[in-house]
Amino acid sequence: MRVLVVGGGGREHALVHSFASSRLATQVFCAPGNAGIAAEADCVDVGGDDLPGLLAFARRERIDLTVIGPETPLVAGIADRFTDDGLLVFGPNARAAQLEGSKLFAKQVMEDAGAPTGRYRRHTTVAGAFADLDEQADYPIVVKADGLAAGKGVLICNDRDEARDAVDACLVEKRFGDAGDAILIEEFLQGSEVSLLALCDGKTVVPMAPAQDYKRIFADDEGPNTGGMGSYCPVPGFGPDVVERVIADRFQPVLDALRRRGVEYRGVLYGGLIVTAQGVKLLEFNCRFGDPETQAILPRLDSDLLELCLAAANGELAGVPVAWKPQQCVTVVMASRGYPATSSKGDVITGLAEAAAEPGVTVYHAGTARKDDHVVTAGGRVLAVSALGNDFAAARDAAYAGIAHIRFDGMQCRPDIAERAVRAEQGRLRLFPAGLAG
Ligand code: GLY
Repeated sequence: MRVLVVGGGGREHALVHSFASSRLATQVFCAPGNAGIAAEADCVDVGGDDLPGLLAFARRERIDLTVIGPETPLVAGIADRFTDDGLLVFGPNARAAQLEGSKLFAKQVMEDAGAPTGRYRRHTTVAGAFADLDEQADYPIVVKADGLAAGKGVLICNDRDEARDAVDACLVEKRFGDAGDAILIEEFLQGSEVSLLALCDGKTVVPMAPAQDYKRIFADDEGPNTGGMGSYCPVPGFGPDVVERVIADRFQPVLDALRRRGVEYRGVLYGGLIVTAQGVKLLEFNCRFGDPETQAILPRLDSDLLELCLAAANGELAGVPVAWKPQQCVTVVMASRGYPATSSKGDVITGLAEAAAEPGVTVYHAGTARKDDHVVTAGGRVLAVSALGNDFAAARDAAYAGIAHIRFDGMQCRPDIAERAVRAEQGRLRLFPAGLAG
């Protein structure tokens, strides 16, 4: 099979890495890819948002399956364009991708599906939003841009003044462009978050192992939000029984609610869950693999990812088994100077081979490029160092042992990734309320 992966971050490197070892793959392409992906696939100089360019490439190269990494081309309808042209694609069509493209659509589908989520109201005017805030007794509260805002459109507001500023930022200053033309004012849910990704073929939902993501830039969850600074998989206390129930009571009804609207969801459905004192609730849906969760999930996968993606794209997931390695995985992201506000480019990266030689370690590239004989930084999140271990303590030690070899000017990474998983595994911390049952 000739496979095309669209995107060029750490998530796409993890996908390419898995596909490159598939018994089904004869050639793997990636558009545009990065310096690390280039070692495992043929990188193509076509941007991930260049739909006509991607379509022309896939036709010319007789691609058998295209797997889409980022949300922007999915929401823009890349799956529809490929399908109309008779090309097989793993990723939801534009209507299905509205689960991530419109927070309001996602809420409506969750309500139809009876899937528990935070209370919300939608506003398009400052006067309406301010009147709503005047009636709110409980803070914090969440102000969300309805549309795609590159992961920045969720604002947690501690009091009414902050909430008014957030409303202004969306509706007046247009900080998120059109994505903030409508906003949701939403109940703040207190609890521990879990990322649950599932493969879907329109009817059947097959869960992947759960993961946790570290969103803030600094240790102890301080500082601004990022795309994700680390992850681990699985999640102690969020076992297969809980996953099964969440899939049966939340994901499957959402897929069914979409089908009642004439929408077939094929691809990854990524549920951002929060475990509250009242049980598991849905914060949001994404229509793609998570980054960096994918870099922590895929090293544990003991099945052929390409076979699974192919089955999902063909509507044939029912009964397909998915196996997992018993080890735990920890992923630590290395970012460049200034991230997340800015990023630096062109700094030489050393120690990559030494890091990859550490037992259990895989180094995934994100914002990297090749310059002369060197690999250099080329974005905010630069690398994701993943490591498998027989327990979280071993996996964490291995990931940081890999990181210790790597150097580039201005590099930053969190020192505390998976610390809580180690403590939970050793019985020194409870991540979720006792008796969690989905
Ligand atoms: N890790 C968060 C995301 O992929 O959106």
